[in-house]
Amino acid sequence: MIIGVPKEIKISENRVGLVESGVKAFVREGHKVLVEKDAGLGSGISNEVYERAGASVIASKKEVYEKSDMIIKVKEPLPEEYTMLRENQILYTYLHLAPEPVLTKALLDRKVKGVAYETIQLEDGSLPLLVPMSEVAGRMATQVGASFLQRDRGGKGILLGGVPGVKRGRVTILGGGVSGINAAKMAVGLGAQVTILDINPKRLEYLDDIFSNKVQTLFSNITNIEQSVPETDLLIGAVLVPGAKAPHLVTRDMIAQMEKGSVVVDIAVDQGGCIETCRPTSHKEPTFEVEGVIHYCVPNMPGVFSRTSTYALTNVTLKYGLMLANLGVEEACAKDKALYKGVNVYNGFVAYEQVARDLNLPYKPLKI
Ligand SMILES: NC(=O)c1ccc[n+]([C@@H]2O[C@H](COP(=O)([O-])OP(=O)(O)OC[C@H]3O[C@@H](n4cnc5c(N)ncnc54)[C@H](O)[C@@H]3O)[C@@H](O)[C@H]2O)c1
Repeated sequence: MIIGVPKEIKISENRVGLVESGVKAFVREGHKVLVEKDAGLGSGISNEVYERAGASVIASKKEVYEKSDMIIKVKEPLPEEYTMLRENQILYTYLHLAPEPVLTKALLDRKVKGVAYETIQLEDGSLPLLVPMSEVAGRMATQVGASFLQRDRGGKGILLGGVPGVKRGRVTILGGGVSGINAAKMAVGLGAQVTILDINPKRLEYLDDIFSNKVQTLFSNITNIEQSVPETDLLIGAVLVPGAKAPHLVTRDMIAQMEKGSVVVDIAVDQGGCIETCRPTSHKEPTFEVEGVIHYCVPNMPGVFSRTSTYALTNVTLKYGLMLANLGVEEACAKDKALYKGVNVYNGFVAYEQVARDLNLPYKPLKI
């Protein structure tokens, strides 16, 4: 198979879909790898490093798309890439289709075989290809939120850790999964007063065990959310219902009750956001204000910590990428149930139930 690795074009997206060791692995299995020129520069991987690993470096993005049987990316294709995709081409990347009708239609029209990193799911329900990026985004959410609390950045001037004799900052985290727990680790490390809300009692038990009395765990219901939000300096949205649009847990009215200069970081913005007032932003202009509250809603947060993120991501994507290349989508999915759950679009149909439901489109699973 010919594997194509285009350069990412989303704003401030510096990650790349395959690193040099990945190129070596594909080449060893008899595949050919085409890497778009400078695709790895943002992650510190030069064209020469790719060539030494056995890839051909190609100047034209169009040629990479045209010649490749499988495209390995990081983020979803943008409109200028839609027309480069072709029928039966495997697209292996983060897709987050549930809130994206236009992108989904483009993939259906082009009859692409779209395998989404974020819905590959093991039998225990975990999402192995989401984990490393959620770890990065979670840790980053606290770091970014703490900096926007600075007065010179528009915030209310609260230092999360406080100082002796002065109250600590209050951080509320909605969703105590991978990104939530990582946000909490950083917030606890800074000395903030941390509350985590989740709907999974087992998860709350786990969080309570590992953080002991360093965090307050609360069951996620309307009353607890309504009480927690107005008292919060930094609100972090980290919920996920796999494959589905995020539920709006925090309303505009609740945001209006927060003190001016408080900060919201909605990590779940890539699934539509769990805070009503959230809308996607970019690293160039990451924030906007609603009701005097700063909102940071960047859907590709790890893109700016590209060196850490690229290696963390490709550590987990390579295994399934090799299966797709060696066996093709159909046979690989027949052999691996986790990978089967990654198929979101196939032959002009939505093949992932939640996405079909959210976008009100017919659902036709891949037959294996
Ligand atoms: N913005 C970015 O750059 C970026 C990067 C990585 C991940 N993400 C996104 O962050 C979100 C979270 O990812 P994750 O890996 O932490 O997911 P996860 O599955 O590990 O955790 C989600 C948690 O949300 C909880 N939850 C579900 N419904 C809830 C509710 N109503 N109230 C409270 N908790 C609820 C679940 O019980 C679970 O513990 C996803 O949308 C993911 O795509 C965004």
